[in-house]
Amino acid sequence: MEIIRTPAAMTAWANRILAAGQTIGLVPTMGFFHEGHLRLMRTAKEKADHTVVSLFVNPIQFGANEDLGKYPRDFSRDCQLAEAEGVDVLFAPGVQDMYPSEACTRVMVSGLTDVLCGASRPGHFAGVTTVVAKLFHIIKPQCAVFGKKDFQQLAVIMRMVADLNWDVEIVGHPIVREPDGLAMSSRNTYLSGTERQAALCLSRAIAHARRRVREGLVEAEILLQEVEWLLQQEAVTIEYASLVDQATLRPLAVLQKGVVLALAIKVGATRLIDNDTLFEEH
Ligand code: PAJ
Repeated sequence: MEIIRTPAAMTAWANRILAAGQTIGLVPTMGFFHEGHLRLMRTAKEKADHTVVSLFVNPIQFGANEDLGKYPRDFSRDCQLAEAEGVDVLFAPGVQDMYPSEACTRVMVSGLTDVLCGASRPGHFAGVTTVVAKLFHIIKPQCAVFGKKDFQQLAVIMRMVADLNWDVEIVGHPIVREPDGLAMSSRNTYLSGTERQAALCLSRAIAHARRRVREGLVEAEILLQEVEWLLQQEAVTIEYASLVDQATLRPLAVLQKGVVLALAIKVGATRLIDNDTLFEEH
């Protein structure tokens, strides 16, 4: 596996691959890999001739009071894990490489970014779309894989790609969970034993919602009350519990195909998100 540190060297590599008529699959990450990241890498490998994983803790998507300073990092472990997956290139630029002091451009998707996580994390999605747009230009992938764990991020990126006529296929990968149901996240390392147990209310609430839909419940308001009650049984703070359309992110009053239950809670100081479609089989 090659480790590339600068955008110029990365683009030179991509140009060589494309000139040889081969394709590039990209998995953008902020590192500290878990099984969720590794599954995304496997999917990218199936979809393209060469796999590039970017590892960049993107400062502009963190708010002033968020966890940029303590975001977990382990570069040598990440290198080993990516190499074992058969990744061709790990692109790990420095902050100055990505954002030289003169940089003053932001890529922003409106509307979709004002709700759910966007409501409590102003500027977060502009940080995400800016870095993803830069990664797409630097790495020139034909396909890029994102997790449905961050389903709003996926919806925003799909919107950006469609709106900007970008010739890159966006692939959404299902959420990878721990055996007990907790969605894998680099941030799970922040949780104490008791917090980890409390966090299971997320997957419990999702399982309940799927069951209620199977039973024929159609009123979103009733389901939300039940979900909130379930979450409140644990020592967590609810940031939002919403039933929205998966593409428009608009709230739905009637439970129907395409509805997503989207949850964000705080367990101690740690913010956790989870979501699921309620009608699709998996
Ligand atoms: P990061 O949190 O490192 O996640 C990288 C990718 O892994 C994202 O597409 C995310 O949705 C996916 N992912 C994380 N946990 C997952 C899980 N349990 N199951 C499936 N996929 C999972 O998301 C980011 O980084 C950044 O915002 C980024 C897109 C790299 C831009 O900086």
